[in-house]
Formats: sequence, structure tokens, C-alpha cells
Amino acid sequence: VSLGPTLSVVTVADSREALEKELATLRGGSGTVALVPTMGALHEGHLTLIDRAKELADSVAVSVFVNRLQFGPNEDFRTYPRALERDVRLATERGARLVFAPDETVMYPRATPDIQVEPGRLGDRLCGAFRPGHFRGVLTVVAKLFGLLRPDVAIFGRKDYQQALLIRRMVEDLDLGVRIEVAPTVREHDGLALSSRNAYLSAPERADALGLWRALDAADRLFRGGEVRSQSLLAAFQERIAAHAHLAPQYVEIVHPDTLTPLESAVPGAVMAAAVFCGSTRLIDNVVFGAAADPRIAVGSRA
Ligand code: PAF
Repeated sequence: VSLGPTLSVVTVADSREALEKELATLRGGSGTVALVPTMGALHEGHLTLIDRAKELADSVAVSVFVNRLQFGPNEDFRTYPRALERDVRLATERGARLVFAPDETVMYPRATPDIQVEPGRLGDRLCGAFRPGHFRGVLTVVAKLFGLLRPDVAIFGRKDYQQALLIRRMVEDLDLGVRIEVAPTVREHDGLALSSRNAYLSAPERADALGLWRALDAADRLFRGGEVRSQSLLAAFQERIAAHAHLAPQYVEIVHPDTLTPLESAVPGAVMAAAVFCGSTRLIDNVVFGAAADPRIAVGSRA
């Protein structure tokens, strides 16, 4: 699909050749390309990643692909919101030059690839403990996207802290030669982190959902007030969550930003990461301790 002379868009590409052709046009010899990988249902968080991508490269490509490999058997692969036409419009309006939206057979010609990227121990922690195989699916599709688009830089959101850390580590360990940028979480006016899954929330659930960020923020404020004992910070989080009828915590941990190992005492730059169910919708979020008061701390954290 072509939306005019400056916007070349690949929608449901049934050939890798179309992608190759578009990429050659974008690069025009030496132009650099930034990739924003997404599963679609774009929101302001994704669009902010496009803004950042524009600062980092000559042109921006957005991939839209709901990746079956990263969903568990009882998860929401089938119901995950899909809105390709809208996504293409939003991404191009925001300045993306290429939208790569492959269908399943283009991405996985052999249905399930024989070779996949194993995240190792880092992938078993936090979300990985509750979503077996999830990060294998994420790393596999991201490695494939890097292979298909060969971007100079790729941008991910900090809301998915563990994902960003694992992708960075994959690029280092496998020498994939892509610069990884991690952009701050974009929030609603009341603090709820933007997520495509927020669309699942009923009105009363939505009202409670902000409790997740409030609880993380409360722990961060306690930390900044001098409390470093993880036990106390975690208790403060749990107390806040318990005040919301629709929220049920799955996990909350205070971890080292690079190793994800639990810390008994929090330090600036440590990450408090949590997943809660809001009704049947699983929400994740995190706070980097001290970063709100000192932006240098966010820079120092690896993801
Ligand atoms: O964060 C996401 O939307 C997905 O996990 C990603 C990185 C696009 C891989 O499917």
C-alpha cells in the first residue's frame, strides 16, 4: 500500500521481497533505520517510541505482529486487540516510513521455528516465572525482526523492564549489532501505564487499575524518605494493592537492575517490578528507585 510519495507502507506483506524493496528505498544507500517493534493496537506509548526513533535514525520502521510464540496456552493470543488499518494510519501520521505487518506464514514459514532464542536464567525471573516460554517467544521474534529489517537501532518501552533487559543482553551475547534504546513509560493522567491490554478493563476495573502505579510510587516515595528495607517497601506496596477490590498481585519484587536478583536492601537504581491481575487482565509496571528524583539514575539503569 502506498500512501503518497513520502510514505511507503508495507501492510500484510505476503512476501519478504516487498520488505526488502521498501528497506532499500528507505536506506537509499546510507540512510539509517530505527525499528519500533510492536504487536499493534498502537497507543501513545508506542507513538512516543516512534518520536524517539525519529531522533535516532534517518527513518523509522514499525513492525506490527501479534507473536503467537510469546503467548501461553491460556493467554490472550486469540483475543489480543488487532487494528491494523488504524495502526498504519497512526504510525505513518507520527512519521514512520514503513510498517511491516507480516502474517503468520511470512514470519513463521515452518509454523514453529526449530531454532529459538533461549533467554537463560534472566528469563526465569519475575514475569518469566509465571509465563513459561514467554521470553523465548519474545527473543525469537525480535531476533527475526532484526534479521529481516537489519535496523541500526531499536526502541523498546521501560514498562516491559525484563523484556528490554533480555533484548539488550541477547544483542550483547549474540553480537547482533543493533543499538537498543529504552524509553520511559508513558502514563495516563492518573499514572496508569499505557498498555494495549488496558482496552480489556471494565470501568470499575479501570478505576482500580491506577492502584498499581500508586502502590509502586508509594514505595518509591518511602525509599526516597530513607526506607531501604525491601520487606517494608514490599509491605507498603501490598497494603496499597489490597485497598483495591479488583486488584490481585501476582508478584512484586525489588531486584538488581542487571541481574534481576532480589535485594534485601534497596539502592538507587534498584527496580521494583510487579504484575497484578485487575479482574482477568494482567497488568505489569515497575519503578526504578530514586529515578523520579534524580534522572541520572534512570540513565544508569540498564533497561
Ligand atoms: O513488547 C511487545 O509489544 C512485544 O513483546 C514485542 C517486543 C513487539 C515482541 O513481540
